[in-house]
Amino acid sequence: MHAAAEAVWQQVAPQLPGFSVEVLASVDSTNTELMRRARAGQHDPVLLVALEQTAGRGRMGRAWHSAPGDSLTFSLGLPLEPADWSGLSLAIGLAAAQAVHPAIRIKWPNDLWADGRKLAGILVETASIAGSRARYVVAGIGINIAPRPADPSFTIQPVGLRELDPALDAERALRLVAPRVVAAMQAFERHGFAPLQAAYAERDALAGRGVRLSDGTAGEAHGVDGTGALLVHTAAGLKAVTSSEVSVRPA
Ligand code: BTN
Repeated sequence: MHAAAEAVWQQVAPQLPGFSVEVLASVDSTNTELMRRARAGQHDPVLLVALEQTAGRGRMGRAWHSAPGDSLTFSLGLPLEPADWSGLSLAIGLAAAQAVHPAIRIKWPNDLWADGRKLAGILVETASIAGSRARYVVAGIGINIAPRPADPSFTIQPVGLRELDPALDAERALRLVAPRVVAAMQAFERHGFAPLQAAYAERDALAGRGVRLSDGTAGEAHGVDGTGALLVHTAAGLKAVTSSEVSVRPA
């Protein structure tokens, strides 16, 4: 993993002054660690890779479980000052999907799916930076690598990257994904989400599918708008869903 991290540094550092990479044998959570550092005033751009997370976190307060070797877990932290924050997590998910494999789809807002199964999860968090209009963004990505035994309690079964392409291991995935996500975050800072709407549509796992929102509303997903809001045709009309706390499931 150190060679892959070094390769990422070589690729990213010229575009991102002050960038550093770290590989930890074990940490509670790469997101928790970078958010802790941000609160302590450390806002330098960094890639933090963990071989093991003991308290990995997912969206909506869920846990992200992984065992050493079965997944790639890392977070990218960097200060950003976009005019509009909407759609950032979609931009990150899109970049990760594009970096790895043509078959990967995005399940709004930013899970990555392949064959209708969950391949990766993304957790984006931000911290304020005293005296600055920028915020420190922590983009945490967990990608399943080795095929994992199906857990019958999951509604959406996981899939490993190796099932998509046996040549894709954690090192290769890191080399592909991290530079692309950094570039996407920098592009997002300048241009926002709107220029990515068409590329998102090509990878939209929910397009045309029946979905149910966490408030019970059912409808059919019709892509995202220029701000990244999920458009859902419901009995009450077209609804633009923006809250990341809304969960959407195939009906
Ligand atoms: C989700 O599916 O709800 C998001 C999962 C995000 C997991 C990654 S693994 C690296 C980073 N550290 C964490 O604790 N979470 C993210």
